[in-house]
Amino acid sequence: MRKPFIAGNWKMNTDSHSGVKLVQDIIAGCGEIAGNKVDVAVCPPFVYLQQVGKALSSSRVALGAQDIYFEQKGAFTGEISPAMLKDVGCTYALCGHSERRHVIGETDELINKKVHAAILGGLLPILCVGELLEERKQNKTTEVVTRQMKKGLAGLTPEKVSAVTIAYEPVWAIGTGLTATPQQAQEVHALIRELMAQMYNKKIASEVRIQYGGSVKADNAGELMGQEDLDGLLVGGASLKADDFVTIIKASA
Ligand code: 13P
Repeated sequence: MRKPFIAGNWKMNTDSHSGVKLVQDIIAGCGEIAGNKVDVAVCPPFVYLQQVGKALSSSRVALGAQDIYFEQKGAFTGEISPAMLKDVGCTYALCGHSERRHVIGETDELINKKVHAAILGGLLPILCVGELLEERKQNKTTEVVTRQMKKGLAGLTPEKVSAVTIAYEPVWAIGTGLTATPQQAQEVHALIRELMAQMYNKKIASEVRIQYGGSVKADNAGELMGQEDLDGLLVGGASLKADDFVTIIKASA
């Protein structure tokens, strides 16, 4: 049985005060569910990791970073190493979020290095994949997701890949209010699981957790989570409202 995994990606939102308040309200709202029935994580901006981490330290809500750099230390101005993220209490690190691919320009090769570095540093990477609207219209979803999966996980042994969560986030559904239908999401999740079976084996494919992200809201989370191959959600906008995020967590339990 795959335990549901719900993560909130706060993106470039909150400040130190509202971030701490948000996580406190989430912890209070989900009570015993977090960590028991559902794995829950929040990914605040880098500069608030420490304060939010302190606020969640005695709870079972985990801390995640929105990005990571692949080098261990040195002259990489502005970047954050795996050891630094560990040091402030992170468990997870997003790798290859669509905004990093398409706004910042990250390549599959760079993202692959980040996935390796996260695992080497003792973090659990969440590898994000997903097609653009034009790619979906041109029936290229399978091709794009297959490429992102193969390049993103290149060189990972079966032992290492078990640390990875995959997040399927169709770019056209992110922040647009246009959620993929549960059937559209399930189709790509099944493809991702099949790819894991081809690239690794059936056991790994049956164990990997695959999150969906893209306009997940309190009122569509339950139906999405009802799909066979959906094991969790990566939530943007709705994770900034404690009540909505808690409703999403409860709907996934
Ligand atoms: P929204 O939930 O705001 O569409 O964002 C999804 C996302 O990108 C999460 O990483």
